[in-house]
Parts: sequence; C-alpha cells; structure tokens
Amino acid sequence: MKYFIRTYGCQMNERDSEALGAALEKAGFIPGTEEDSDLLLFNTCSVRDAAERKAKGKIGYIRKLKQKNPNLIIGVTGCMAQRLGEELLQELPHLDFVLGTGQMQRLVPLVQEIAADRKRRVETEPSAEVLESMGGHDSNPSWHGQIAITRGCNRFCSYCIVPYVRGREISRTKDSIIAEAKELVAKGVKEIMLLGQNVAAYGLNGDTRPPADGHSPFAELLEEMNEIPGLLRIRFTSPYVSYFNDRLIAALKNCSKVCHNVHLPLQSGSDRILKAMNRQYTAESYLAKVAEIRAAIPEVTFSTDVIVGFPGEEESDFLMTREIMNKVGFEQAFVFKYSPRPGAKSALLADSVPDPVKEERNQILLDDLKERIGRKLASLKGETVEVLLEGVSARNAARWSGRTSTSFVVHFEPDEKCAVGTLRKVQITQVNAVSLFGKLLAE
Ligand code: SAH
Ligand code: SF4
Ligand code: F3S
Repeated sequence: MKYFIRTYGCQMNERDSEALGAALEKAGFIPGTEEDSDLLLFNTCSVRDAAERKAKGKIGYIRKLKQKNPNLIIGVTGCMAQRLGEELLQELPHLDFVLGTGQMQRLVPLVQEIAADRKRRVETEPSAEVLESMGGHDSNPSWHGQIAITRGCNRFCSYCIVPYVRGREISRTKDSIIAEAKELVAKGVKEIMLLGQNVAAYGLNGDTRPPADGHSPFAELLEEMNEIPGLLRIRFTSPYVSYFNDRLIAALKNCSKVCHNVHLPLQSGSDRILKAMNRQYTAESYLAKVAEIRAAIPEVTFSTDVIVGFPGEEESDFLMTREIMNKVGFEQAFVFKYSPRPGAKSALLADSVPDPVKEERNQILLDDLKERIGRKLASLKGETVEVLLEGVSARNAARWSGRTSTSFVVHFEPDEKCAVGTLRKVQITQVNAVSLFGKLLAE
C-alpha cells in the first residue's frame, strides 16, 4: 500500500509526520503521491483559524479521489483532529478516521482495522505511550535531523490552543534522546534540532515554575549532546524566556556545537498586553535576558514570534512592541495577526482590533525587520564565517549555500571539495538587501 502525508503547522508536526511515515514504512507501506496512494493522512494545526480552514478545504477537495479509488483510506491527525474529534467525521463524510495528538502511535493498527472492516473511527483519548513511541526517522535522512524532546505545554498563554490540543508537558528520558541522536548521526546527520513547545522546560517533570538559578536539565542534555562524536551542530526551539537561566546560558557558551542563534518568543512589548496574554515576564525582564545572553555570547543572533492585534491592543501598546523589537534588533521575526481560538481564555475577550489595523501593524513590523536585516547583512561584508554546507542554492544552480551558526545563509561558487554537511570557511564579499554572497576559502 502507498501512503501520502500532508503536514500543516509547526516543526513539531513535521517531526510527527516523519515518525508516522517511518512507522508506516516499517509496516510495509511505501511513499506515494496524493493521487496514487491508498492512505492519505492530514497532520493538522489549530493554532490560528486560517490553519484549520486551509486543511478542511483541502480535505474537502480530495473527496473526488475516493470516487476513483474506493479502497482509499483518508485520515486526519494532529491538533485539529484532537480539537474537533467526532465533529470532523460529521462535517466530512468521506473521512475514515480522526486520530488525536496523544494517540499517534496507534496509526498503523488503526489503518489495518479500517482496511479490514471499513468502519469509521475516532481516537482522541491521550495515552502516555505516545511519548517514547514517536522516535522513527526517514531511512535516508539529510544532513539535518529533528528530535522532539518534550510533548505538550503547561504555559497556558491566554491566546493559545496548544496546551488544550497537545496536552500537558511531558519530557522524554535523556537516554532515549541520546540514543536517537546517535542513530541519526550514524545515518549521516550532522545537525540536530531539538524541539519542544517550551524546550527549556525539558526534564522539569511538569513543574509549572521556571527552574531555579543554577538548575537546568535542558542544559545538561545539551552538554551530553555536545559530546556525540560526528555531530557538528545542535539547535533548539523554542525556549520560554523565563526558563533561559544562567545555567542554560553557560551551556550555550561552553558547548562548541550549540549554535549561536536563539529563538526567543516575545509576543508583545507592552506589559499590559503581556499580562493579558498570561506571559510571565515584562518587557524589561525580556530585554535584561537578551543582554545577559549577549554578554556571554557577543555574536548571538535572535529571532522571535510576535502577535499583533491581541484584544485591547492600543496603538501605544503596538508602539512598545515596535520599540522593543528594534532595541533587540531581531535578525528574524514571525509576526502573527491575532486569531481567537475557541477554548483558549482570550477567546472570551472581544476581538477588538479590526482586521485592517492588524494588517497594518503586521506590515509595519515586517518593514522594520527588512530594514534591520539589510543593515545587519551589510555589516557582515568582508568577514570570514564558518558555514555548514547545505547544498545547491535554491535560486541559482551554479551556487551552493551554507548557514552560519548564527543562522545567516551565504551563497558561493563551489569547489571540487564541497560536500553537503561539512563545515567550511567563506569570506563574505557581496551583500544585497536579503542575501549574503561569498568566496569559499581553501581548506
Ligand atoms: N510553543 C511556542 C509557540 C507555538 S505557536 C512558543 O511558545 O515558543 C507559534 C506562535 O504562534 C506563537 O509563538 C504565537 O506567536 C503564535 N500564536 C499562537 N496562538 C495564536 C493565536 N491565537 N493567534 C495568533 N497567533 C498565535
Ligand atoms: Fe502556546 Fe504559550 Fe505554550 Fe507556546 S508557551 S505553546 S505560546 S501556551
Ligand atoms: Fe504546532 Fe499548530 Fe499544533 S503550531 S502544536 S501544529 S496547533
């Protein structure tokens, strides 16, 4: 049987899709296309209304494939499956199953049962088994691999659906993570991204308070990962700012493989809005943390997530967000327009900021970002940087590209020694508004 998985949402979902694919292949399925597969799986996201609408539209559209292939099995998994459950079966009559986020390890038996009796099914009761049974990877991975080290979230930011659809935060054992990392490295992976909704809460056993100074099981994990022979780089996403303590900063500084790029979600620069969002920090404490990280690692770059148009956001609140973003000087930022999520606390508040205002604020932050990036890139001209080679550039087949530890992409003409997944030095010779170009130095 052939299978095809379409993935929506975040890196956690992409990682789950990879593990689901690996489980299917272990059971004898082979990868196919949307048109020729016997199993179509939609791994969905609920974080904004648009994400759900997009997936539902697509699932509705493929109804016609079932007329061509009556054996076709269509399933929905992931966050929207968890949120809507039975409701999805009613809304989409050609759907065969709905599989929740805490039940994903049940995919293969579930599909086999449906193939045998053609009965429709919904499974959304969470099970602890899912935590350690989603470790499968592509049999032939690239230089980059991802490992989910926690599942779920305990933060309950007032706008966010994730804690409701992914459940309480649980951490995997260090041994199983290290074993998975070594397996990836044995298959040729050179860079590993560690994933968690609040990755720095790793190993805190569901304690909802940030760790005390000097204590960070996540830092200990990074240190152990750093010792894995053959692994060149370690990245992670996303840490909640108040969990980024002195112990973690020390690990970032001392572990040579841990990259100097931190994704630190800000959400807003207004203390009033941060409070309404149930984000447990202030603009001032966020800035203090950035300064502390920078003092330890001067070259560090920052990226962030920001929401514009949260209920009650006034122009003055928005200007505070704009100001703090410029103060930090984020090299990358993902800006989202607030979308009320039924079930999350803020959905009880009036969605007071009109759409055109959300759009305008969104655009202003993106324009600021563009200008900042342009300036930052220009300042790198003439520097020699180390990059991990990622292969032929997407836009120009005559060039290769590589990424710095700080997450800048550099394009250059390859030499005969170029190999994907190796570290090389490049001198930056040319810069435009969005890209860096360089000259590969001899080894
Ligand atoms: N766990 C991650 C975030 C996961 S969701 C973290 O906290 O770092 C990714 C981003 O989506 C969030 O950081 C937030 O900026 C945005 N987001 C979440 N809920 C949203 C909503 N209801 N409307 C708009 N954006 C939202
Ligand atoms: Fe959502 Fe907040 Fe958890 Fe991130 S930390 S997943 S924004 S509740
Ligand atoms: Fe990720 Fe979307 Fe779920 S952002 S955790 S796939 S709601």
